[in-house]
Formats: sequence, C-alpha cells, structure tokens
Amino acid sequence: MPGMNKARIAVFVSGGGTNLEALLKAQETGQIPHGEIVLVLSSAAGAYALERAKNHNILGFAVPRKGAAQEVFEAGLTEKLEEYRIDMIILAGFLSILSEEFVKRWPDRIVNIHPSLIPAFCGKGYYGLKVHEAALERGVKLTGATVHLVNEIPDGGRILLQKAVEVQPDDTPEVLQRRVMERAEWVLLPQAAELVAAQIVEEGQEKNV
Ligand code: GAR
Repeated sequence: MPGMNKARIAVFVSGGGTNLEALLKAQETGQIPHGEIVLVLSSAAGAYALERAKNHNILGFAVPRKGAAQEVFEAGLTEKLEEYRIDMIILAGFLSILSEEFVKRWPDRIVNIHPSLIPAFCGKGYYGLKVHEAALERGVKLTGATVHLVNEIPDGGRILLQKAVEVQPDDTPEVLQRRVMERAEWVLLPQAAELVAAQIVEEGQEKNV
C-alpha cells in the first residue's frame, strides 16, 4: 500500500467486547497512531460488542457463525474485509475458529489475545472462562495474557507480548478472568495493535521508495 500512513484495522468479536472497548479508548487517546479501527465484525448477532462499536461511531456488522458452513461464514467475513480495504485483523474475544485457508491469506496480519501465558492453557477447548478454570484447577500461582500473531491454527504464531498476573488463593474463575483482563489484556492489546500497525505502515512505505 504505497504511501499509506495508517493501517486499516478490523476487530473480530463474539461477545461482551471489553477488549474492543480498550482498543477504541486507546484509539481515541492517540495510542494507536499508525492504525485506524474502521470495522467491527461479530460472529454472534446479538453481541454487546456491536453496541460498543456503535457508541464509538465505528461500523459494526454481524456475520453469524451459527447455522452457517465454515466457508460461507468466512466468505462473509472476507467480503467485508475487502469492501473496507482492511490491512490487519485483531481477534478481541473472538471465539470462532478460523480455517487454515483463511489464516494463510493474512500472514502476520492477524493478532489474537489469549487469556493465559502461552504455551500454558491454550489450544483446543481453551477459551474464555475455561482457561481460568484450568489454571485454578492446576494451582498455578501466576497466569496472565498473551498477544500473538496467528499463522497457525489455533494458537500458533509468534508471540508479540505477554504480561503475568498473580493468582490469589480465594480466586474464582470469574474473579481471575476479570483481573487478567484489567491488568493484562486491556493493556497489551492496544500496544500490540500499534506494534503491528506500525510494521505494516513501514512495509508500505518501503515499497514506495
Ligand atoms: C477475553 O478474556 C479473551 O481473552 C478471551 O475471551 C474473553 C472475551 O472478552 N478470548 C479467548 O479465550 C480466545 N481464545 P471480551 O469480549 O470482553 O473482550
């Protein structure tokens, strides 16, 4: 993309969207100078994340996963990504699996947040609250969050940022999830967005000289 100065970002969500909220606030306070969140795509029609997008005047669409074949679902996503000329994707609490074919079309351009210190508690079946249940069951004293590029399914790809969070003796999965979000996820995700956006802009400019 010759001469580009901001990478155009799509955020994929499935639920509450607190990570989306953190990204939108970061954008509004100038913490993502090399990127612009232009689009929010939700895999669930009624996701509160879509309300959040609307409240921040950001375009949001549901591309429902439920009842659709994987190819149809991903064709729906791709159509929007092309229409809005998206450069990078952030999975922010996106709980649907993307196929290898989809991921291969976006090398080093998909960023994911996972609520543990990868390689602990990741892979098949580890999503949302289940990750924290597993961490408590195992008795780990430290957990946290990881932001990584998605180049392989489901949690493969280079790790960009990690932040550790202490587990407290009387934690429930819900309490631990909240602490990991507040102290790690909402901090790391905007930082990673800027990191990858800056890289894209730099590459775009290189092509132009
Ligand atoms: C977050 O904890 C996120 O890390 C996790 O789901 C939650 C969504 O919260 N994602 C995964 O488990 C992905 N494997 P949010 O909708 O409020 O951002």
